[in-house]
Amino acid sequence: MPTITTTPKTLSESPKGFCRLVLTEDNHSWHRLVETNDGGLEYRLGAGKFSEIDGRQFRTLVRTIVQAAKSHQIASLAVDLKFSQFPKLASETEVWFYATIAENALLSAYEYTAYKTKEDKRVAFGSLLLCSVTSAESKKALAHGTIVATFANKARDLANTPGCDMTPTDLANAARILFSKTKVGLSVLGEKEIKKLNMGALLAVGQGTKSETKFIVAEYWGAGKSVGKKVSADKKPIVLIGKGVTYDTGGLNVKPSGAMHDMHLDMSGGAAVLAAIGAAAALGLKKNVVALVPAAENSVSAEAMRAGDIVTAMNGMTIEVLHTDAEGRMIVADAFTYSERYSPSVVLDVATLTGAAIVALGEHASATMTTDVKLSGMLSELGERTGDLVWPLPLWDEFKQHLKSTRADVTNIANNFSKWGVAIEGGTFLSYFAPKDIPWAHIDMAPRMESIASDKLAKGATGEPVRLLVAFIEAWIPRA
Ligand code: BES
Ligand code: ZN
Ligand code: ZN
Repeated sequence: MPTITTTPKTLSESPKGFCRLVLTEDNHSWHRLVETNDGGLEYRLGAGKFSEIDGRQFRTLVRTIVQAAKSHQIASLAVDLKFSQFPKLASETEVWFYATIAENALLSAYEYTAYKTKEDKRVAFGSLLLCSVTSAESKKALAHGTIVATFANKARDLANTPGCDMTPTDLANAARILFSKTKVGLSVLGEKEIKKLNMGALLAVGQGTKSETKFIVAEYWGAGKSVGKKVSADKKPIVLIGKGVTYDTGGLNVKPSGAMHDMHLDMSGGAAVLAAIGAAAALGLKKNVVALVPAAENSVSAEAMRAGDIVTAMNGMTIEVLHTDAEGRMIVADAFTYSERYSPSVVLDVATLTGAAIVALGEHASATMTTDVKLSGMLSELGERTGDLVWPLPLWDEFKQHLKSTRADVTNIANNFSKWGVAIEGGTFLSYFAPKDIPWAHIDMAPRMESIASDKLAKGATGEPVRLLVAFIEAWIPRA
């Protein structure tokens, strides 16, 4: 990970050994590496008209700078980016500006090399120097962005780890390491305890494998635990639920070959909520947050859950399993029921739930589903501000009839096996398990499970929506 440092000096005064980045208003693809008169290096990069650069383009610009440094094997780069240079960013603050620089520089610098055995001989990008930074607030914002990106990158490490080395037990152990220097409390429930809790849906998904199913509970009481019976609104925690399917074969409804190889990433939601609560603690946020990760491997074996099985979820509802590949909603359902014991102020679940969300939205944004219009708007707005884009799909009662079961209370996919509106049916299924009279939203992050070329990120996990979740924790005001 490169380090980010600051200096009050201008770019032309930047120390020797740093390649100087000079932004020009040439076209985006224009760039040139030149030797300067004093023997230094200067990298000239076209950014287009500065007056046209909005928040989204600014994030991409920061990433482009880092990608350029990496591809030209520049170890140390000095840049001079001024908030006032970009008039379209005026609706944001200078704090946003510097946090955005740190976040996107570090996200873009990330590489997943854990399984590379040959030494990388390329010069690594190690240092980013930001010139003309004087205020303490700007430096604080950089530190904030550094923490958020560091945890988002940790989520990527967890998600990128292959399924053979990231079983539910491995995920729980990784959570312990993740929280080792923070004030996050961790408890991990095993199958015995999960059985006691009557989490029949979670157990069914994990019954086809030797890898033990786990239920990971992380708590951070930044606002202080409430004493006495009546919990004041500001102490009611935000509960984040993350889908932790450590490998999704599809189960007996096995996935076709081209659709299975990347299913070690099916615990990306779990990784994101663990990283988000870790970041909240590292930032010392005065908020109460709980992260719940139901973790199971959806495997194929003679013991695996069958299509047609009926299982009883923790809330007592019976689920007819029409499709063993619709497992994410089953494990998240039991986590929703478990969340009730916290009397949360809001519950968000993050899950790589459906390929259909990708069909609906494309690969640039995760899908949000909620009946709470204000919550929906807040998520969209924070998504735009942080870069973890989200967009709503409707969660209408019309979809409930799709999940009517002849033999049980609810089916886990459409009872007529229809392929239309499948992402919304996932959200609709969860609505049966979400706590009553508490705002909740479902985030289907399947579209953002893996990076695409325009992201200017390493291939694999994106670390989304950690930035959004941290911003949400900061901004959420519990309703009285
Ligand atoms: N983990 C998958 C969803 C997924 C697919 C995420 C591709 C990212 C990329 C999920 O468990 C699944 O298999 N969903 C099914 C639902 C269907 C059976 C109703 C799907 O999307 O096909
Ligand atoms: Zn599946
Ligand atoms: Zn899945």
